[in-house]
Amino acid sequence: MTTSSNQPAPLDRRRQLELYQRAVKTLPGGTDSNFRAWGEDTIYLDRGRGGRVWDIDGNEFVDLRMGYGPVILGHGDDRVDDYVNERMRRGVSFSLTTEDEVRAMELVCELTGWVDMARMTVSGTEATMHLMRLARAFTGRNKIVKFEGQYHGVHDYALISVSPNNMADLGDQDNPVRLAWGRGIPDAVADTIIPARFNNIERLRRLFERQGHEIAAVIVEPVLGNAQGILPQEGFHKELRALTQEFGILLIFDEVKTGFRFARGGAAEYFGITPDLASFAKAMGNGYPAAAFGGRRDIMSQLPEKVSHGGTYAGNRVAAAAAVKTLEIIRDTDALETVHATGRRMQDGLREVINEARLPFNFTGHPSMFGIMFTEKVATEYRDWADTDHALYDEVAVGMHRRGAMPEPDSREPWFVCEAHAADDSVDRAVTAFEESLKAALDGRARTHAADPGARGEAERAG
Ligand SMILES: Cc1ncc(COP(=O)(O)O)c(C=O)c1O
Repeated sequence: MTTSSNQPAPLDRRRQLELYQRAVKTLPGGTDSNFRAWGEDTIYLDRGRGGRVWDIDGNEFVDLRMGYGPVILGHGDDRVDDYVNERMRRGVSFSLTTEDEVRAMELVCELTGWVDMARMTVSGTEATMHLMRLARAFTGRNKIVKFEGQYHGVHDYALISVSPNNMADLGDQDNPVRLAWGRGIPDAVADTIIPARFNNIERLRRLFERQGHEIAAVIVEPVLGNAQGILPQEGFHKELRALTQEFGILLIFDEVKTGFRFARGGAAEYFGITPDLASFAKAMGNGYPAAAFGGRRDIMSQLPEKVSHGGTYAGNRVAAAAAVKTLEIIRDTDALETVHATGRRMQDGLREVINEARLPFNFTGHPSMFGIMFTEKVATEYRDWADTDHALYDEVAVGMHRRGAMPEPDSREPWFVCEAHAADDSVDRAVTAFEESLKAALDGRARTHAADPGARGEAERAG
Protein backbone atom coordinates (compact mmCIF):
# COMPACT_ATOMS: atom_id res chain seq x y z
CA MET A 1 0.00 0.00 0.00
CA THR A 2 1.19 3.47 -0.74
CA THR A 3 1.57 6.04 1.97
CA SER A 4 1.94 8.94 -0.38
CA SER A 5 0.10 12.07 0.66
CA ASN A 6 0.95 13.84 -2.59
CA GLN A 7 -1.92 15.59 -4.23
CA PRO A 8 -2.50 14.20 -7.71
CA ALA A 9 -2.68 16.68 -10.56
CA PRO A 10 -6.23 17.99 -11.07
CA LEU A 11 -8.12 16.05 -13.73
CA ASP A 12 -8.23 17.54 -17.18
CA ARG A 13 -11.94 18.43 -17.48
CA ARG A 14 -11.84 20.99 -20.26
CA ARG A 15 -14.16 19.21 -22.66
CA GLN A 16 -16.61 18.41 -19.89
CA LEU A 17 -16.73 22.01 -18.82
CA GLU A 18 -17.40 23.07 -22.40
CA LEU A 19 -20.17 20.51 -22.75
CA TYR A 20 -21.64 21.59 -19.43
CA GLN A 21 -21.76 25.20 -20.59
CA ARG A 22 -23.49 24.06 -23.75
CA ALA A 23 -25.83 21.62 -21.98
CA VAL A 24 -27.16 24.03 -19.35
CA LYS A 25 -28.66 26.11 -22.13
CA THR A 26 -30.96 23.23 -23.05
CA LEU A 27 -31.14 20.75 -20.16
CA PRO A 28 -31.93 22.16 -16.71
CA GLY A 29 -28.77 21.63 -14.69
CA GLY A 30 -27.09 20.34 -17.83
CA THR A 31 -28.40 16.78 -17.31
CA ASP A 32 -31.50 14.61 -17.43
CA SER A 33 -31.71 14.01 -13.68
CA ASN A 34 -31.40 16.21 -10.60
CA PHE A 35 -29.19 13.51 -9.10
CA ARG A 36 -26.53 14.06 -11.76
CA ALA A 37 -26.57 17.84 -11.72
CA TRP A 38 -23.32 18.74 -9.99
CA GLY A 39 -22.80 22.23 -11.42
CA GLU A 40 -19.43 22.62 -13.11
CA ASP A 41 -18.41 19.25 -11.65
CA THR A 42 -21.12 17.51 -13.71
CA ILE A 43 -19.59 14.45 -15.31
CA TYR A 44 -20.01 13.69 -19.00
CA LEU A 45 -19.05 10.16 -19.95
CA ASP A 46 -17.85 8.79 -23.24
CA ARG A 47 -18.05 5.04 -22.59
CA GLY A 48 -17.89 2.15 -20.18
CA ARG A 49 -16.45 -1.34 -20.41
CA GLY A 50 -16.51 -3.95 -17.65
CA GLY A 51 -15.95 -2.17 -14.33
CA ARG A 52 -14.43 0.95 -15.93
CA VAL A 53 -15.75 4.20 -17.37
CA TRP A 54 -14.08 6.96 -19.39
CA ASP A 55 -15.18 10.57 -19.45
CA ILE A 56 -15.10 12.68 -22.60
CA ASP A 57 -11.74 14.13 -21.55
CA GLY A 58 -10.30 10.62 -21.63
CA ASN A 59 -9.99 10.16 -17.84
CA GLU A 60 -10.42 6.52 -16.80
CA PHE A 61 -12.12 5.45 -13.59
CA VAL A 62 -12.92 2.27 -11.72
CA ASP A 63 -16.67 2.67 -11.68
CA LEU A 64 -18.12 2.20 -8.20
CA ARG A 65 -21.47 3.75 -9.06
CA MET A 66 -22.37 1.28 -11.80
CA GLY A 67 -25.23 3.54 -12.90
CA TYR A 68 -26.70 3.60 -9.34
CA GLY A 69 -26.72 -0.19 -9.32
CA PRO A 70 -28.13 -1.75 -12.46
CA VAL A 71 -24.89 -2.81 -14.09
CA ILE A 72 -24.42 -6.05 -12.16
CA LEU A 73 -22.30 -7.86 -14.77
CA GLY A 74 -20.28 -4.98 -16.18
CA HIS A 75 -20.62 -2.28 -18.82
CA GLY A 76 -21.01 -3.52 -22.38
CA ASP A 77 -21.37 -7.17 -21.38
CA ASP A 78 -21.12 -9.06 -24.68
CA ARG A 79 -23.43 -11.87 -23.56
CA VAL A 80 -26.28 -9.45 -22.90
CA ASP A 81 -25.52 -6.99 -25.69
CA ASP A 82 -25.24 -9.67 -28.39
CA TYR A 83 -28.57 -11.18 -27.35
CA VAL A 84 -30.28 -7.78 -27.20
CA ASN A 85 -28.84 -6.86 -30.60
CA GLU A 86 -30.06 -10.06 -32.16
CA ARG A 87 -33.55 -9.66 -30.71
CA MET A 88 -33.93 -5.94 -31.46
CA ARG A 89 -33.35 -6.49 -35.16
CA ARG A 90 -36.82 -8.00 -35.17
CA GLY A 91 -38.27 -4.63 -34.18
CA VAL A 92 -38.31 -3.00 -30.78
CA SER A 93 -41.71 -1.56 -30.06
CA PHE A 94 -45.06 -2.93 -31.13
CA SER A 95 -47.30 -2.26 -28.13
CA LEU A 96 -48.11 -5.91 -28.60
CA THR A 97 -46.60 -8.78 -26.70
CA THR A 98 -43.49 -10.82 -27.58
CA GLU A 99 -42.27 -14.09 -26.15
CA ASP A 100 -39.30 -12.26 -24.62
CA GLU A 101 -41.68 -10.56 -22.19
CA VAL A 102 -43.24 -13.83 -21.16
CA ARG A 103 -39.81 -15.38 -20.74
CA ALA A 104 -38.55 -12.42 -18.68
CA MET A 105 -41.44 -12.59 -16.22
CA GLU A 106 -41.17 -16.39 -16.00
CA LEU A 107 -37.57 -15.87 -14.94
CA VAL A 108 -38.59 -13.30 -12.30
CA CYS A 109 -41.03 -15.85 -10.88
CA GLU A 110 -38.48 -18.66 -11.07
CA LEU A 111 -35.60 -16.78 -9.46
CA THR A 112 -37.62 -15.25 -6.65
CA GLY A 113 -39.53 -18.45 -5.98
CA TRP A 114 -42.43 -16.56 -4.41
CA VAL A 115 -43.65 -14.17 -7.14
CA ASP A 116 -46.67 -15.79 -8.83
CA MET A 117 -47.27 -13.15 -11.49
CA ALA A 118 -45.42 -10.08 -12.70
CA ARG A 119 -45.52 -7.38 -15.32
CA MET A 120 -42.83 -5.22 -16.85
CA THR A 121 -42.44 -1.48 -16.60
CA VAL A 122 -39.65 0.73 -17.87
CA SER A 123 -38.52 2.12 -14.52
CA GLY A 124 -38.51 1.34 -10.82
CA THR A 125 -40.62 4.46 -10.34
CA GLU A 126 -43.44 3.00 -12.38
CA ALA A 127 -43.11 -0.33 -10.59
CA THR A 128 -43.56 1.12 -7.09
CA MET A 129 -46.35 3.41 -8.27
CA HIS A 130 -48.33 0.49 -9.67
CA LEU A 131 -47.75 -1.57 -6.55
CA MET A 132 -49.21 1.16 -4.38
CA ARG A 133 -52.26 1.29 -6.64
CA LEU A 134 -52.68 -2.48 -6.55
CA ALA A 135 -52.40 -2.52 -2.77
CA ARG A 136 -54.98 0.25 -2.42
CA ALA A 137 -57.34 -1.52 -4.80
CA PHE A 138 -56.94 -4.87 -3.05
CA THR A 139 -57.46 -3.62 0.50
CA GLY A 140 -59.87 -0.77 -0.19
CA ARG A 141 -57.63 1.41 2.02
CA ASN A 142 -55.80 4.56 0.96
CA LYS A 143 -52.76 5.07 3.15
CA ILE A 144 -49.28 3.75 2.51
CA VAL A 145 -46.57 3.60 5.17
CA LYS A 146 -43.05 4.36 4.00
CA PHE A 147 -39.85 4.67 5.99
CA GLU A 148 -37.83 7.83 6.37
CA GLY A 149 -34.73 7.87 4.19
CA GLN A 150 -36.12 5.34 1.74
CA TYR A 151 -36.35 6.17 -1.95
CA HIS A 152 -38.94 4.55 -4.14
CA GLY A 153 -38.62 6.69 -7.27
CA VAL A 154 -39.89 10.04 -8.47
CA HIS A 155 -43.67 9.72 -8.48
CA ASP A 156 -45.60 11.95 -6.09
CA TYR A 157 -46.42 9.17 -3.60
CA ALA A 158 -42.76 8.25 -3.24
CA LEU A 159 -41.20 11.66 -2.67
CA ILE A 160 -42.09 11.91 0.98
CA SER A 161 -39.48 12.07 3.77
CA VAL A 162 -36.71 10.84 1.53
CA SER A 163 -33.31 12.38 2.19
CA PRO A 164 -33.16 15.80 3.79
CA ASN A 165 -29.75 16.94 5.03
CA ASN A 166 -31.33 18.45 8.12
CA MET A 167 -33.06 15.83 10.25
CA ALA A 168 -35.19 18.48 11.95
CA ASP A 169 -37.11 18.70 8.67
CA LEU A 170 -38.44 15.19 9.34
CA GLY A 171 -40.23 16.42 12.43
CA ASP A 172 -40.11 15.26 15.98
CA GLN A 173 -38.84 11.70 16.57
CA ASP A 174 -42.17 10.78 18.11
CA ASN A 175 -44.17 12.60 15.52
CA PRO A 176 -42.56 12.43 12.07
CA VAL A 177 -43.99 14.84 9.51
CA ARG A 178 -44.68 14.20 5.83
CA LEU A 179 -41.83 16.03 4.18
CA ALA A 180 -42.42 16.51 0.46
CA TRP A 181 -39.21 16.56 -1.61
CA GLY A 182 -39.54 19.69 -3.68
CA ARG A 183 -42.55 21.65 -4.76
CA GLY A 184 -45.47 20.49 -6.83
CA ILE A 185 -46.60 17.50 -4.79
CA PRO A 186 -50.27 18.00 -3.89
CA ASP A 187 -51.06 17.88 -0.19
CA ALA A 188 -53.85 15.45 -0.96
CA VAL A 189 -51.27 13.00 -2.32
CA ALA A 190 -48.74 13.58 0.44
CA ASP A 191 -51.45 13.05 3.02
CA THR A 192 -51.91 9.46 1.90
CA ILE A 193 -48.32 8.64 2.91
CA ILE A 194 -47.43 7.97 6.53
CA PRO A 195 -43.71 8.27 7.26
CA ALA A 196 -42.30 5.81 9.77
CA ARG A 197 -38.93 5.11 11.32
CA PHE A 198 -36.96 2.07 10.17
CA ASN A 199 -36.15 -0.64 12.73
CA ASN A 200 -38.82 0.54 15.13
CA ILE A 201 -41.47 -2.16 15.39
CA GLU A 202 -43.02 -0.86 18.60
CA ARG A 203 -43.83 2.48 17.01
CA LEU A 204 -45.28 0.69 13.99
CA ARG A 205 -47.50 -1.44 16.21
CA ARG A 206 -48.86 1.67 17.87
CA LEU A 207 -49.47 3.23 14.45
CA PHE A 208 -51.27 0.12 13.21
CA GLU A 209 -53.40 -0.02 16.35
CA ARG A 210 -54.44 3.56 15.77
CA GLN A 211 -54.73 3.68 11.98
CA GLY A 212 -54.32 0.12 10.66
CA HIS A 213 -57.82 0.09 9.22
CA GLU A 214 -56.75 2.89 6.81
CA ILE A 215 -53.39 1.42 5.77
CA ALA A 216 -53.18 -0.54 2.53
CA ALA A 217 -49.50 -1.37 2.59
CA VAL A 218 -46.06 -0.83 4.04
CA ILE A 219 -43.43 -0.29 1.36
CA VAL A 220 -39.88 -1.00 2.45
CA GLU A 221 -36.43 -1.10 0.92
CA PRO A 222 -35.09 -4.19 2.72
CA VAL A 223 -31.92 -2.23 3.49
CA LEU A 224 -31.76 1.55 3.16
CA GLY A 225 -30.20 1.34 -0.28
CA ASN A 226 -30.47 5.07 -0.69
CA ALA A 227 -29.12 5.85 2.76
CA GLN A 228 -25.85 4.02 2.84
CA GLY A 229 -27.45 0.58 3.05
CA ILE A 230 -28.45 0.89 6.72
CA LEU A 231 -29.37 -2.62 7.79
CA PRO A 232 -32.45 -4.06 9.44
CA GLN A 233 -31.81 -5.17 13.00
CA GLU A 234 -32.03 -8.87 13.77
CA GLY A 235 -35.64 -9.95 13.41
CA PHE A 236 -36.97 -6.64 12.08
CA HIS A 237 -38.26 -7.99 8.77
CA LYS A 238 -39.78 -11.07 10.39
CA GLU A 239 -41.61 -8.90 12.91
CA LEU A 240 -42.69 -6.50 10.19
CA ARG A 241 -44.04 -9.43 8.17
CA ALA A 242 -45.96 -10.77 11.17
CA LEU A 243 -47.28 -7.35 12.14
CA THR A 244 -48.54 -6.51 8.65
CA GLN A 245 -50.29 -9.88 8.48
CA GLU A 246 -51.89 -9.31 11.88
CA PHE A 247 -53.45 -6.07 10.64
CA GLY A 248 -54.31 -7.18 7.10
CA ILE A 249 -51.77 -4.74 5.65
CA LEU A 250 -49.81 -5.73 2.55
CA LEU A 251 -46.03 -5.82 2.64
CA ILE A 252 -44.25 -4.45 -0.43
CA PHE A 253 -40.52 -5.13 -0.75
CA ASP A 254 -38.93 -2.52 -2.97
CA GLU A 255 -36.21 -4.70 -4.47
CA VAL A 256 -35.17 -2.20 -7.12
CA LYS A 257 -31.63 -2.12 -5.70
CA THR A 258 -31.47 -5.43 -3.85
CA GLY A 259 -33.25 -7.69 -6.36
CA PHE A 260 -31.06 -10.21 -8.23
CA ARG A 261 -28.10 -8.72 -6.34
CA PHE A 262 -28.21 -9.83 -2.68
CA ALA A 263 -29.17 -13.32 -3.84
CA ARG A 264 -30.81 -14.81 -6.93
CA GLY A 265 -34.08 -14.32 -5.10
CA GLY A 266 -33.08 -10.84 -3.90
CA ALA A 267 -33.42 -9.52 -0.37
CA ALA A 268 -36.56 -11.59 0.22
CA GLU A 269 -34.43 -14.73 -0.11
CA TYR A 270 -31.50 -13.17 1.74
CA PHE A 271 -33.62 -12.24 4.77
CA GLY A 272 -35.94 -15.26 4.50
CA ILE A 273 -39.12 -13.18 4.07
CA THR A 274 -42.08 -13.67 1.75
CA PRO A 275 -43.62 -10.26 1.06
CA ASP A 276 -46.94 -9.85 -0.75
CA LEU A 277 -45.62 -7.70 -3.58
CA ALA A 278 -42.27 -6.47 -4.86
CA SER A 279 -40.72 -4.11 -7.37
CA PHE A 280 -37.66 -5.02 -9.40
CA ALA A 281 -35.44 -3.06 -11.80
CA LYS A 282 -31.73 -2.29 -11.97
CA ALA A 283 -29.85 -5.63 -11.84
CA MET A 284 -32.55 -7.42 -13.80
CA GLY A 285 -31.43 -5.75 -17.03
CA ASN A 286 -27.70 -5.06 -16.56
CA GLY A 287 -28.34 -1.39 -17.31
CA TYR A 288 -31.04 -1.63 -19.94
CA PRO A 289 -34.27 0.04 -18.76
CA ALA A 290 -35.99 -3.11 -17.54
CA ALA A 291 -38.23 -3.13 -14.48
CA ALA A 292 -41.13 -5.14 -13.12
CA PHE A 293 -43.66 -5.44 -10.34
CA GLY A 294 -45.15 -8.67 -9.14
CA GLY A 295 -46.32 -10.79 -6.27
CA ARG A 296 -49.26 -12.81 -5.06
CA ARG A 297 -51.61 -14.13 -7.73
CA ASP A 298 -54.75 -12.91 -5.95
CA ILE A 299 -53.42 -9.33 -5.82
CA MET A 300 -51.89 -9.29 -9.30
CA SER A 301 -55.07 -10.80 -10.77
CA GLN A 302 -56.79 -7.47 -10.27
CA LEU A 303 -55.05 -6.74 -13.57
CA PRO A 304 -56.24 -6.35 -16.26
CA GLU A 305 -59.92 -5.79 -15.40
CA LYS A 306 -59.97 -3.92 -12.10
CA VAL A 307 -56.76 -1.91 -11.87
CA SER A 308 -55.04 0.27 -14.46
CA HIS A 309 -51.59 -0.48 -15.76
CA GLY A 310 -50.14 0.23 -19.16
CA GLY A 311 -47.28 1.92 -20.91
CA THR A 312 -46.28 2.17 -24.54
CA TYR A 313 -42.83 0.86 -23.72
CA ALA A 314 -43.84 -1.63 -21.02
CA GLY A 315 -42.19 -4.89 -22.03
CA ASN A 316 -40.44 -3.34 -25.02
CA ARG A 317 -38.11 -5.68 -26.88
CA VAL A 318 -34.84 -4.16 -25.73
CA ALA A 319 -35.75 -4.29 -22.04
CA ALA A 320 -37.35 -7.72 -22.24
CA ALA A 321 -34.42 -9.26 -24.11
CA ALA A 322 -31.94 -7.68 -21.68
CA ALA A 323 -33.92 -9.08 -18.74
CA VAL A 324 -34.06 -12.55 -20.28
CA LYS A 325 -30.32 -12.76 -20.86
CA THR A 326 -29.27 -11.05 -17.61
CA LEU A 327 -31.55 -13.21 -15.48
CA GLU A 328 -30.39 -16.36 -17.28
CA ILE A 329 -26.78 -15.43 -16.54
CA ILE A 330 -27.65 -14.74 -12.90
CA ARG A 331 -29.45 -18.08 -12.69
CA ASP A 332 -26.95 -20.23 -14.57
CA THR A 333 -23.51 -18.85 -13.71
CA ASP A 334 -21.66 -17.90 -10.54
CA ALA A 335 -21.85 -14.18 -11.45
CA LEU A 336 -23.47 -13.25 -8.13
CA GLU A 337 -20.99 -15.30 -6.10
CA THR A 338 -18.20 -13.44 -7.93
CA VAL A 339 -19.84 -10.08 -7.19
CA HIS A 340 -20.19 -10.95 -3.49
CA ALA A 341 -16.62 -12.27 -3.16
CA THR A 342 -15.25 -9.20 -4.95
CA GLY A 343 -17.22 -6.90 -2.65
CA ARG A 344 -15.83 -8.71 0.38
CA ARG A 345 -12.29 -8.40 -1.00
CA MET A 346 -12.84 -4.66 -1.50
CA GLN A 347 -14.16 -4.34 2.05
CA ASP A 348 -11.12 -6.24 3.41
CA GLY A 349 -8.78 -3.75 1.75
CA LEU A 350 -10.77 -0.76 2.96
CA ARG A 351 -11.00 -2.14 6.49
CA GLU A 352 -7.22 -2.40 6.67
CA VAL A 353 -6.81 1.19 5.49
CA ILE A 354 -9.39 2.64 7.87
CA ASN A 355 -8.09 0.64 10.82
CA GLU A 356 -4.58 1.87 10.08
CA ALA A 357 -5.95 5.42 10.20
CA ARG A 358 -7.60 4.54 13.54
CA LEU A 359 -10.97 5.87 12.51
CA PRO A 360 -14.24 4.59 13.92
CA PHE A 361 -16.32 3.14 11.12
CA ASN A 362 -18.66 0.41 10.07
CA PHE A 363 -19.77 -1.07 6.79
CA THR A 364 -23.45 -0.96 6.01
CA GLY A 365 -25.40 -2.83 3.36
CA HIS A 366 -24.17 -5.97 1.64
CA PRO A 367 -20.76 -6.68 0.10
CA SER A 368 -22.30 -6.21 -3.36
CA MET A 369 -23.67 -2.80 -2.39
CA PHE A 370 -22.12 -1.27 0.69
CA GLY A 371 -21.68 2.01 2.49
CA ILE A 372 -18.83 3.21 4.68
CA MET A 373 -20.02 5.07 7.76
CA PHE A 374 -17.46 6.96 9.77
CA THR A 375 -19.02 6.50 13.18
CA GLU A 376 -18.78 4.26 16.24
CA LYS A 377 -22.51 3.80 16.53
CA VAL A 378 -24.25 1.32 14.27
CA ALA A 379 -26.91 3.30 12.39
CA THR A 380 -30.40 1.85 12.55
CA GLU A 381 -32.41 4.52 10.74
CA TYR A 382 -31.97 7.45 8.39
CA ARG A 383 -31.75 10.03 11.17
CA ASP A 384 -28.51 8.39 12.37
CA TRP A 385 -26.75 9.41 9.16
CA ALA A 386 -26.54 12.94 10.56
CA ASP A 387 -24.30 11.67 13.37
CA THR A 388 -21.73 10.18 11.02
CA ASP A 389 -18.73 12.02 9.67
CA HIS A 390 -20.23 12.16 6.20
CA ALA A 391 -18.27 15.30 5.38
CA LEU A 392 -15.11 13.21 5.63
CA TYR A 393 -16.64 10.53 3.44
CA ASP A 394 -17.67 13.05 0.78
CA GLU A 395 -14.22 14.57 0.77
CA VAL A 396 -12.62 11.17 0.35
CA ALA A 397 -15.00 10.27 -2.48
CA VAL A 398 -14.22 13.49 -4.34
CA GLY A 399 -10.51 12.83 -3.81
CA MET A 400 -10.94 9.34 -5.24
CA HIS A 401 -12.19 10.79 -8.51
CA ARG A 402 -8.84 12.53 -8.91
CA ARG A 403 -7.17 9.19 -8.30
CA GLY A 404 -9.04 7.15 -10.86
CA ALA A 405 -11.94 5.63 -8.94
CA MET A 406 -15.48 6.88 -8.95
CA PRO A 407 -17.83 6.33 -6.03
CA GLU A 408 -20.79 8.70 -5.71
CA PRO A 409 -19.62 11.86 -3.94
CA ASP A 410 -22.46 11.52 -1.44
CA SER A 411 -22.12 9.02 1.36
CA ARG A 412 -25.80 8.06 1.10
CA GLU A 413 -25.21 6.25 -2.16
CA PRO A 414 -23.50 2.87 -1.66
CA TRP A 415 -20.59 1.49 -3.65
CA PHE A 416 -21.79 -0.97 -6.25
CA VAL A 417 -19.77 -3.99 -7.27
CA CYS A 418 -20.14 -5.77 -10.61
CA GLU A 419 -18.90 -9.12 -11.88
CA ALA A 420 -16.33 -7.48 -14.15
CA HIS A 421 -14.56 -5.82 -11.19
CA ALA A 422 -13.10 -9.27 -10.52
CA ALA A 423 -11.52 -9.51 -13.95
CA ASP A 424 -8.79 -6.90 -13.52
CA ASP A 425 -7.10 -4.79 -10.83
CA SER A 426 -10.24 -2.75 -10.07
CA VAL A 427 -10.30 -3.77 -6.40
CA ASP A 428 -6.67 -2.80 -5.78
CA ARG A 429 -7.07 0.44 -7.67
CA ALA A 430 -10.19 1.37 -5.74
CA VAL A 431 -8.59 0.59 -2.39
CA THR A 432 -5.43 2.52 -3.25
CA ALA A 433 -7.45 5.53 -4.43
CA PHE A 434 -9.41 5.39 -1.18
CA GLU A 435 -6.24 5.09 0.91
CA GLU A 436 -4.49 8.02 -0.72
CA SER A 437 -7.58 10.16 -0.65
CA LEU A 438 -8.30 9.39 3.00
CA LYS A 439 -4.74 10.25 3.92
CA ALA A 440 -4.91 13.55 2.03
CA ALA A 441 -8.23 14.41 3.69
CA LEU A 442 -6.94 13.61 7.17
CA ASP A 443 -3.69 15.53 6.54
CA GLY A 444 -5.80 18.47 5.39
CA ARG A 445 -7.87 18.30 8.54
CA ALA A 446 -4.78 18.09 10.71
CA ARG A 447 -3.31 21.16 9.01
CA THR A 448 -6.54 23.11 9.37
CA HIS A 449 -6.87 22.05 12.97
CA ALA A 450 -3.29 23.11 13.71
CA ALA A 451 -3.97 26.52 12.16
CA ASP A 452 -7.34 26.90 13.85
CA PRO A 453 -8.07 24.32 16.55
CA GLY A 454 -11.81 25.12 16.39
CA ALA A 455 -12.21 24.42 12.69
CA ARG A 456 -12.96 21.19 10.90
CA GLY A 457 -11.08 21.19 7.62
CA GLU A 458 -12.19 20.30 4.20
CA ALA A 459 -8.92 21.36 2.71
CA GLU A 460 -8.81 19.02 -0.21
CA ARG A 461 -12.30 19.76 -1.48
CA ALA A 462 -11.64 23.48 -1.21
CA GLY A 463 -8.31 23.01 -3.03
C1 LIG B 1 -35.17 1.33 -3.99
C2 LIG B 1 -35.52 2.09 -5.22
N1 LIG B 1 -36.79 2.11 -5.65
C3 LIG B 1 -37.16 2.76 -6.75
C4 LIG B 1 -36.23 3.45 -7.50
C5 LIG B 1 -36.66 4.17 -8.74
O1 LIG B 1 -36.20 3.48 -9.85
P1 LIG B 1 -36.01 4.28 -11.24
O2 LIG B 1 -34.86 5.20 -11.05
O3 LIG B 1 -35.74 3.17 -12.23
O4 LIG B 1 -37.29 4.98 -11.51
C6 LIG B 1 -34.90 3.47 -7.09
C7 LIG B 1 -33.89 4.20 -7.87
O5 LIG B 1 -32.77 4.38 -7.49
C8 LIG B 1 -34.53 2.77 -5.92
O6 LIG B 1 -33.27 2.77 -5.49
